[in-house]
Amino acid sequence: MEVHVSNQQTPNTGTNLDPWYSNYADRAAGLSVSEVRALFAVASRPEVVSLAGGMPAVSALPQDLVVTAMNRVMRDEGSIALQYGSGQGVPRLREHILEVMAMEGIRGSVDDVVVTTGSQQALDLVTKLFINPGDVILAEAPSYVGAIGVFRSYQADIVHVLMDDDGLIPDALREAIAREKSAGKSIKFLYTIPNFHNPAGVTLTASRRDEVMQICRSEGILVIEDNPYGLIYFDGPPPAPMRSTEDEGVIYLGSFSKTFAPGFRVGWAIAPHAIREKLVLAAESAILCPSAFSQLVISEYLETADWRAQINTFRGVYEERKNTMLQALNEYLPDLHHTNPDGGFYIWLTLPDYLDTKQMLPRAVKELVAYTPGTAFYADGGGRNKMRLSFCYPTPDQIRLGIRRLTTVINGEIDLLETFNATGPLQTIRSSRSFSAPPPDLD
Ligand SMILES: Cc1ncc(COP(=O)(O)O)c(C=O)c1O
Repeated sequence: MEVHVSNQQTPNTGTNLDPWYSNYADRAAGLSVSEVRALFAVASRPEVVSLAGGMPAVSALPQDLVVTAMNRVMRDEGSIALQYGSGQGVPRLREHILEVMAMEGIRGSVDDVVVTTGSQQALDLVTKLFINPGDVILAEAPSYVGAIGVFRSYQADIVHVLMDDDGLIPDALREAIAREKSAGKSIKFLYTIPNFHNPAGVTLTASRRDEVMQICRSEGILVIEDNPYGLIYFDGPPPAPMRSTEDEGVIYLGSFSKTFAPGFRVGWAIAPHAIREKLVLAAESAILCPSAFSQLVISEYLETADWRAQINTFRGVYEERKNTMLQALNEYLPDLHHTNPDGGFYIWLTLPDYLDTKQMLPRAVKELVAYTPGTAFYADGGGRNKMRLSFCYPTPDQIRLGIRRLTTVINGEIDLLETFNATGPLQTIRSSRSFSAPPPDLD
């Protein structure tokens, strides 16, 4: 059921115009320009409605709260804020992180927490610690584009495991483990985003969490539980994290990027004791220490502002945007399957399988709408007819306009293909599908 991927990487580290072309290490071949990054440049033009990026709605965070926290830090602790600090992170912030974690049912001691420069850095450090070239990392199909980039840069063999609307499928996980083990491969960890998945928008059910944990425990596979969106829920909290029931087999990754602001670049890892010590050493060798200034400002904010109420505000903003996107999709593209996230930032849209969302993207940008093509989220070129739609950043009006434009693009693409396949199977598929014609674009 799962898709096996052998990483066939083409060296793309430079060109013959680069005098150092032949000097790069093999691992640099894994560093390629992500489709998301290339998109950011195009989609940042103001006339384009970007449903592509995953930027939090920082405008919903009152800036005076941040300014007040920054002023206080500089007034009272300036000499600490401007100095190098501990490689593991400021103890005061680590205590606050435990408070945040308690909201999700995770208990631990201040010693268990390692502060990182965003959870992205934690991903990098964990991969650096565990992966030799050719080692297997199990990851959902699809998976977070930034994690795929890190895994590739350490020359991991990324093996995707199928998901459905309830998250990772335990049977597919069992099959993947059995197959990789019988091929003599070394499986180093399972990377999973159980809540409001990026990009799929689905949440792993409670019973599947138990099952996945039990499989990994019995197979001796470490779990990397990446949970930046867990507190951004709409109806109610998601099931308890796997880390809340398992201390030794899970590294939990958290972040202030979605509940506060990504600009401070503060995330964290909660890891079993021995791994934690190595994580700190790896962090020290990478950056010496995370930014003391950022950590103290966040501590100050958490101590003096009503951060729980602010998270509620974020939830309200994102829920309204999700509902708007869902409504527009149901109205304009009623026959297409899309996920219905209970939180987070993303909806995953499936188009008819003869459409290629990457090929379609230039036409979409011409129609002034951008999305992220599905292939960005697979290590094996999968996801051709899928796309990720982000509802986190555009306003509800922009979202409606964006989905209207997207509908025009999809219909235009189908027309185009039919023109060149007049007697082919597309007509049959098309005639059984009725894409609603959107009203004319009034803007
Ligand atoms: C699933 C996932 N993990 C990790 C990150 C990295 O977040 P940060 O480094 O800002 O904490 C992101 C960012 O979008 C994400 O979606």
